[in-house]
Amino acid sequence: MELLPLLCHPGWFCCCVGLIIILRLRRRKPWDPSKCSVSLAGKTAIVTGANTGIGKCVAMDLARRNARVILACRSRERGQRALEEIRRQTGNGAVLLEMLDTSSMASVRAFADRILQQEKRLDILINNAGASGLPHSMTAEGLENTFATNHLGPFLLTNLLTGLMRKSAPSRIVFVSSFNHKNGEIHLSCLRGQNIRGFRPDYPYNCSKLMNIMCANEFARRLRGTGVTVTSLDPGIVMTEAVRYYSIFIRLIFKSIGFFFFRTPEEGAVSTIFCAVSEEAEGLTEKYIDCDCMLALPSPAARDPPVTAKLWEACEQAVGLPPSPPK
Ligand SMILES: *[C@@H]1O[C@H](CO)[C@@H](O)[C@H](O)[C@H]1NC(C)=O
Repeated sequence: MELLPLLCHPGWFCCCVGLIIILRLRRRKPWDPSKCSVSLAGKTAIVTGANTGIGKCVAMDLARRNARVILACRSRERGQRALEEIRRQTGNGAVLLEMLDTSSMASVRAFADRILQQEKRLDILINNAGASGLPHSMTAEGLENTFATNHLGPFLLTNLLTGLMRKSAPSRIVFVSSFNHKNGEIHLSCLRGQNIRGFRPDYPYNCSKLMNIMCANEFARRLRGTGVTVTSLDPGIVMTEAVRYYSIFIRLIFKSIGFFFFRTPEEGAVSTIFCAVSEEAEGLTEKYIDCDCMLALPSPAARDPPVTAKLWEACEQAVGLPPSPPK
């Protein structure tokens, strides 16, 4: 009997599918937010990109813990929908919506100004907003769109809010990076849209996620001893709308394979919630957490102090901050 027809037998096929479904249902939970009883009453948190996906799930969790939660969103309509859903599901009325477009440094500054005026404290800042698969384009401020959205906006925002966070210490800053950072490279001219290799849409994404980790660690070093801790993390491969800029074909493949192999946004939010609220992550700083909530080493490129120093300087210039040498 031929081997090939045997392997193609429907019985085999069903066995395989059954096995995959069993593995999917038995996927272990690395750390369970529902078993963590930390309360955030009296604390204020900002979640960027909170209208959908991981950001919305994180905001939902923080609201359940009774934090005052500011949803920083680009679209008022989508943000308002998320706000209503979170208020309804958690019964927490102190969930607010503020407009923020991290691709625009003017928008970041206006947002930070409003926060500094309105809020007396800030205990948790989740830099979650990001996009992948954006077509290569330049913003009105002369920055490359993906780098601006995923890195320079969060970089500027964090710089503008650390003063308030120091006053509220102990406080936590969290950067949602990605495993993809391992394929990133640092070419400073990319920030202004030059020398982007082949313009593959995931190239700027991968590089921006590498920058997230490098600057998170630099923030951590600069904030040592202040009670403000900074971590970065990998959420795992998550079914989110971050793929919405890819073609319908890629989105369809993503959706159908996704059910079996990718995490749901709830599962993808776990490592972020771990960094932001868990007792285990208290005092944890200058560290990278993987999608199973384990301490992990980012790629060697992310652990290169001279390159990090140059990147920090280039980011300050790009967003219009005065130079601030490390202490
Ligand atoms: C970006 O990272 C992903 C995942 O690690 C990888 O599959 C992809 O090839 C990378 N893209 C580029 C342009 O390096």
